Amino acid sequence: MNQLHLGTVAHLRGNPFRQSNCLEIIEDGALWIGGDGRILAVGSRTDLLPAIGSDTTVHSHDGAWLLPGLVDAHLHFPQYYTVAAANQGLLSWLEETIFPAESEFKNVGFANKAANQFVSHLLRTGVTTAAVFGSQFPDATMALFESAKHQGLRLISGLTLMDQGGPKALLNTPEAAKALSLQLMAYCRGEPLLHFALLPRFALACSPAMLTMCGELLKDNPGCYLQTHINESLEEIAAVKKLHPKSKHYLDVYDHYGLLGPNTLLIHNIHARDDELRRIAETGSAVCHCPSSNLFLGSGLFPFKRHLDADIAMALGTDVGAGLHFSVWEEAAEAYKVQQLRQYHLSPGQLLYLMTLGGARALGLGDETGNFEVGKSADFFVLQPQKSDYLTQRLNRCPDLASQLFVLMQLTNFCCIVGTYVRGVVRG
Ligand code: GUN
Ligand code: ZN
Repeated sequence: MNQLHLGTVAHLRGNPFRQSNCLEIIEDGALWIGGDGRILAVGSRTDLLPAIGSDTTVHSHDGAWLLPGLVDAHLHFPQYYTVAAANQGLLSWLEETIFPAESEFKNVGFANKAANQFVSHLLRTGVTTAAVFGSQFPDATMALFESAKHQGLRLISGLTLMDQGGPKALLNTPEAAKALSLQLMAYCRGEPLLHFALLPRFALACSPAMLTMCGELLKDNPGCYLQTHINESLEEIAAVKKLHPKSKHYLDVYDHYGLLGPNTLLIHNIHARDDELRRIAETGSAVCHCPSSNLFLGSGLFPFKRHLDADIAMALGTDVGAGLHFSVWEEAAEAYKVQQLRQYHLSPGQLLYLMTLGGARALGLGDETGNFEVGKSADFFVLQPQKSDYLTQRLNRCPDLASQLFVLMQLTNFCCIVGTYVRGVVRG
């Protein structure tokens, strides 16, 4: 059966950082979805309603907005219960709060329950695609994949890889990590919504042997992703310099082991040098900005414009548990404020791009999800502003739909999200 969803439709037709007028907002809009869960058409209600046949059910979302499913390009599964821990910066926070919390995921029953809650929480906040650092424990990471499969979340994940710089319980040898990664990769191969990623935590947690293993697997497996943290805090950068005195800079450590390329997403990169930015662009790697995490850990203010000028694709991530928001929708409001402090002003279309099509493109999924182009997977969520009296009053005073979208992005929390669809099926 086909479906026709009615509401105010907003999405990006292109990249608003490179071209104007690509934000499309259709006030009395309609989204027509085929029985295979793919977009048949997007347009105005008056054009599409007469075109559908009796094999289409109509869903009227009165007063609601229909928006492309959100892409959270970076967060941590085993930090689900650790959001909002007072801290004194990245390295001591990892040691004192995060490593003990991540150690709890050795307990399979605990991990199973956490995985179900984690996935359902993401879906309820409008996220349809998430790139997630899984657990160091294979059973817990498998629980995450299983949960995503059953609940219908598009997931990129794998084991958080560490073989040094943390408690023994969290360390895997490169040999074990390789064998487990190959198993998870094989599992994902038959699953349309699941993708495997190599996740060497960061340079301080991975030995040359672990980084070599990651570089080899990345090279030998074309569909495989890689994510790692970089240039997040000054203290971290100084420690990496000490550990790798021969490397030109932080990025050079990853470059040396063949970790850069179009399937690589580098997390944070706040304190990047110009030569690092040039090399990231040259290799086609992308960067993920996690503003609330950067503020909460006191890591710094991300240089968005320098990345843009270097022609680097960017995505947004919540970085839960350093980030405070479970929804990348709320994360975009933080991105706006951080760039205001750097005198760079993001428009409503640019913000929506970062959390939808831009994020999907940075993850190599731009042909499958991110906007309402015909043939793409119908990944979207329904935002109902009337859930909040003030939001309704405020929207009534907006001069146009783009201003309404901006107000929604600044003021809506996930309580206004009333439905999330992946491949045309309601999830979460
Ligand atoms: N760098 C290495 N590990 C982490 C982590 O878990 N969170 C953040 N924010 N940075 C990291
Ligand atoms: Zn992170």
